[in-house]
Amino acid sequence: MASRELTTIILAAGEGTRMKSARAKVLHEIAGAPLLAHVMKAASAAGSSALAVIIGPDRDDVADMARRFVGKLDIKLDVFVQNDRLGTAHAALQAGALLQAAGGDVLIAFGDTPLLTPATFEALRQPLREGADIAIAAFTATDPSGYGRVLAQGERVIAIREEKDASAEERRITLCNGGLMAISARHALRLLKQVGNANAKGEYYLTDIVEVARAEGLIARAVVVAEDELRGVNTRAQLADAEALMQQRLRREAMDAGVTLVAPDTVFFSHDTVLGNDVWIGPHVVFGPGVSMAGPGEILGFSHLAGCRIAAGARIGPFARIRPQTTLGDNSHIGNFVEINRSTLGADVQANHLAYVGDAEVGRGSNIGAGTITCNFDGAEKHRTRIGRDVFVGSNSTLVAPITIGDEVLIAAGSTLTKNVPDGALAFGRTRQSELDGKGRDRVIANQAKRAARKARGA
Ligand code: UD1
Ligand code: CA
Repeated sequence: MASRELTTIILAAGEGTRMKSARAKVLHEIAGAPLLAHVMKAASAAGSSALAVIIGPDRDDVADMARRFVGKLDIKLDVFVQNDRLGTAHAALQAGALLQAAGGDVLIAFGDTPLLTPATFEALRQPLREGADIAIAAFTATDPSGYGRVLAQGERVIAIREEKDASAEERRITLCNGGLMAISARHALRLLKQVGNANAKGEYYLTDIVEVARAEGLIARAVVVAEDELRGVNTRAQLADAEALMQQRLRREAMDAGVTLVAPDTVFFSHDTVLGNDVWIGPHVVFGPGVSMAGPGEILGFSHLAGCRIAAGARIGPFARIRPQTTLGDNSHIGNFVEINRSTLGADVQANHLAYVGDAEVGRGSNIGAGTITCNFDGAEKHRTRIGRDVFVGSNSTLVAPITIGDEVLIAAGSTLTKNVPDGALAFGRTRQSELDGKGRDRVIANQAKRAARKARGA
């Protein structure tokens, strides 16, 4: 089947007042990406070649996010501003220039429905292939209040009635408009221009396009979709609901792809987390954006990862923190209370306990002892630490950057190093040990006597 051209318009000019936020609603995030980004991603995955996002006035932040995010997608983006919020049809018409040129199918989606899947976009195009002119996503609502009701006659949708305009009888209908619509591109602009605003809210309703089409003898059909997919986000509580549904989906996808989740409900993914076969994940692990990890590998409980690439054979955590711009080589062992930030570690590197490795390069086979700190920040600027291969960094070492440690170096425990160390050296950066004969015992006995006296006084 020849693929038809697809243009997607995402309406995101709403004010989102119920979020009670200075931030635009579509910039609130689930699974590490803004709501709008999720819809853009689905549109792209469904094969859209062109994308229009309609934003409200003075929303450069939304435009910037859309432009930034589109860089990750193979799709052309136009941003249009809807200066007056006159309704969903009016919003869609802001992309008139794009509609004029579009062929194939046009999809209109809302920026605040982040759970839509590419499969649903695809399902909506099917009726158009079969000769319909419009297809709407409908769902059977457990509680239809607030939604547009779908008026059908057999297979045909004859109208969508917004609740405020519906009769008592129409309000009893539970088949509701989900807000996603596909329109044959050759009719889209003409039909949208005919939509009027003679309704209870005085708005240009996108939904009225169905009746306009019917008057021309065109056909609209409904595709029934699971209610969860069409859930919109209007409040913080709905944002949390959408997050929970998205996490369920991501957990299921990870397990289907061969990842073990010991306690799935406690693991939080980002929309773009990539895990290989036989990655094993313990309880309470959180993935920020941009993590990829090859299998096999293990992430033990209570670890937090973001923006990192991890090669096969890794053992991370428990209680490890891996921060962005980090790459870990094969068989890395990163243990409890170790933080790695903006660093590249070679194969077989171990940092098993209590360390901070930031702005560093660590060569293969090196061992970072407990309590090692790379002092990368001098209060004004960040500096790099370079550690060669097969280096043994003794416990509680302080490496003051910028500093370069050669290959096969051994750093004595408790060292503070401020100068470069050549290959093969044994480096000490601490004062020599000294002893005073018997002085320790004198002190111990004196202390015991003081404690006994205090006890005798009952203090
Ligand atoms: C809309 C549908 C309704 C459907 C429901 C599903 C219309 C007229 N009604 O109602 O049938 O059951 O969604 O959730 O379409 N927007 C703009 N500019 C505007 C108005 C809205 O960009 O001038 C955007 C909003 O940002 C939002 C979307 O369009 O993303 C939907 O608008 P909203 O006001 O939420 O429509 P509903 O009343 O929920
Ligand atoms: Ca809405």
